[in-house]
Amino acid sequence: MQKLVYIALGTALIAASCNKQITSTKNIEAKDNQTFADLDQARIKHLSLDIETDFKTQQIKGSATYTFENKNAKQLILDTEKLTIDSVLLANGQKTTYQLGEKDSIKGQALIIDVTQKDTIVKVFYKTSPDANALQWLNPQQTHDKKHPFLLSQGQAILTRSWIPIQDTPSVRVTYDAKVKTPKELMALMSAINPKEKSVDGTYTFDMPQPIAPYLIALAVGDVNYQPIDNRTGVYAEPGLLKAAAWEFAEMGKMVTAAEKLYGTYPWEQFDVLVLPPSFPFGGMENPRLTFATPTAIVGDRSMTNLIAHELAHSWSGNLVTNSTWDDFWVNEGFTVYFERRIMEELEGKDYADMISVIGFQDLETSMRNIPEKYTSLKVDMKGANPDDAFSDVPYDKGYLFLKMLEDKYGREKFDPFLKQYFSSHAFQTMTTEKFVDYLKENLTNGDDSFVQEWIYNTGWPKDLKKPTSTLFDLAEAQLKQDIQNGRAKVTPKKIEISTKSTNEWVHFIRQIDPKKNTKGDLAYLDAIYDFTNSKNPEIECAWYEKAFLMHYDKVNTNAKEFLVHVGRRKFLEPLYLALKESNQIELAKDIYKDARPNYHFVARQTIDSMLNYKP
Ligand code: BES
Ligand code: ZN
Repeated sequence: MQKLVYIALGTALIAASCNKQITSTKNIEAKDNQTFADLDQARIKHLSLDIETDFKTQQIKGSATYTFENKNAKQLILDTEKLTIDSVLLANGQKTTYQLGEKDSIKGQALIIDVTQKDTIVKVFYKTSPDANALQWLNPQQTHDKKHPFLLSQGQAILTRSWIPIQDTPSVRVTYDAKVKTPKELMALMSAINPKEKSVDGTYTFDMPQPIAPYLIALAVGDVNYQPIDNRTGVYAEPGLLKAAAWEFAEMGKMVTAAEKLYGTYPWEQFDVLVLPPSFPFGGMENPRLTFATPTAIVGDRSMTNLIAHELAHSWSGNLVTNSTWDDFWVNEGFTVYFERRIMEELEGKDYADMISVIGFQDLETSMRNIPEKYTSLKVDMKGANPDDAFSDVPYDKGYLFLKMLEDKYGREKFDPFLKQYFSSHAFQTMTTEKFVDYLKENLTNGDDSFVQEWIYNTGWPKDLKKPTSTLFDLAEAQLKQDIQNGRAKVTPKKIEISTKSTNEWVHFIRQIDPKKNTKGDLAYLDAIYDFTNSKNPEIECAWYEKAFLMHYDKVNTNAKEFLVHVGRRKFLEPLYLALKESNQIELAKDIYKDARPNYHFVARQTIDSMLNYKP
């Protein structure tokens, strides 16, 4: 391998000395520091899984068969994490030798399989560990209906290797098929062509005919039913939640149509959403054909459906054109946020899109204040780091602002066709930041790259920043002023119906409360009018409990604890534990965390463990 690198480097140098323009990084594959795979030797093309989900031992057991492109390989190197490897066979059924490399705290362990130059098929028999990072094995109490256990996987960014030995890098794409055996009361679903009903014996077969990156291979097993929305969209959820979920997400069909108008034909045929139990660590995960979603988006007024638009947008930005390494993560998320807001503007109008842009901007401000400076640029360097350490709102909302700047500068008449062309001409390929910049210069900016350094490579805020604004939020702010300034001294608070505003407006209203200026009395007054403490809307709960924690308004503590024990969505956990920590209530934080931690997924535990310096 060493030799190959030198040859490639040598060729690049010769080319560079002959012709300056060939210094372009266009065709040099980016190095992914988060994988052991050696793609110069072998590249997996197809994966065939034959597995069983054992809820008793909390293990997945079975085999993975790979068809790979062999480039004079002596070894096929796969990523693994906490896996037990039982045996490895070649196509003829003969065992081959293999070894597990040294453990790396971020990458896990390399599985190095000896092959010959003629081999193109390898089969690995393996088992997962009961604490596989990707997997969450939930007991019935942790589900909505509380009757059956549930299993879910979360692959992004580098967790797939903890349930499938694989070349776990987004620069690899595989098609896959799978046979999954589950307890027969449960349905198995994957990021593939899915069943719509339970099978008789708990055996399910899957096919994913389009090549996808390994972080998008996903599995869920639970007591769920399906409700179609239209002929290509629908919702899976536990029986007791299905009706509410299907109502909340009833616009999915229209979303796909709106998205197609902007980016071209939906490339994955089916777009379904699976609503998971509340401990799912993310709002949503764009697993192809089957978005995984948090039940906390079901707020009863359809106001959080931008989450679905977001995951749908990944069908193009992320799943079709994929960040080449996690250093280019903004290429997935920045485009997706931009596109999410365009879809929502189409469906709900500009006022709605403006609101979510302002919320996103506020989150970006928080990230820019709190994360290490080196992670405040769009393109980052994560050598030796865990991609999750760099996770913040920067790739999302700074990425959005960059694309919005381009939209404003060149106009939608140019920008929209540019985007459409970008996605169709790079479909099923990977994208580096540099390749995108080259494409941008050639196809939109006429060679101008004066803004590239500032927006993509520099840390901190760019100079020509345009802050998003929202007229509905201005009204919400005026309302808060009126409530607190005029109301408090003179009138007894009168309870009012909270449904006069949408969720985002209430979130903004609450976010305007200033712990330095407002008092606990102000909180009590607002609570008497709006009853925020007893809200059942997770967005409102999170915003309100955060202020309450910061201002020691202890009336929320019982409900806030119940919320933190029940919900595992990291976006809610982070600000709440941080508020406790910053208001000198670390003991309370740890006390809650002790009870809540068993309900959290590995990625959420990792974040909160390190925030609270918690040693399990
Ligand atoms: N792909 C992300 C979730 C993710 C990112 C998981 C990185 C693991 C590593 C997903 O599309 C996402 O961004 N979800 C957001 C949705 C929101 C922006 C509407 C979330 O979970 O909050
Ligand atoms: Zn996303």
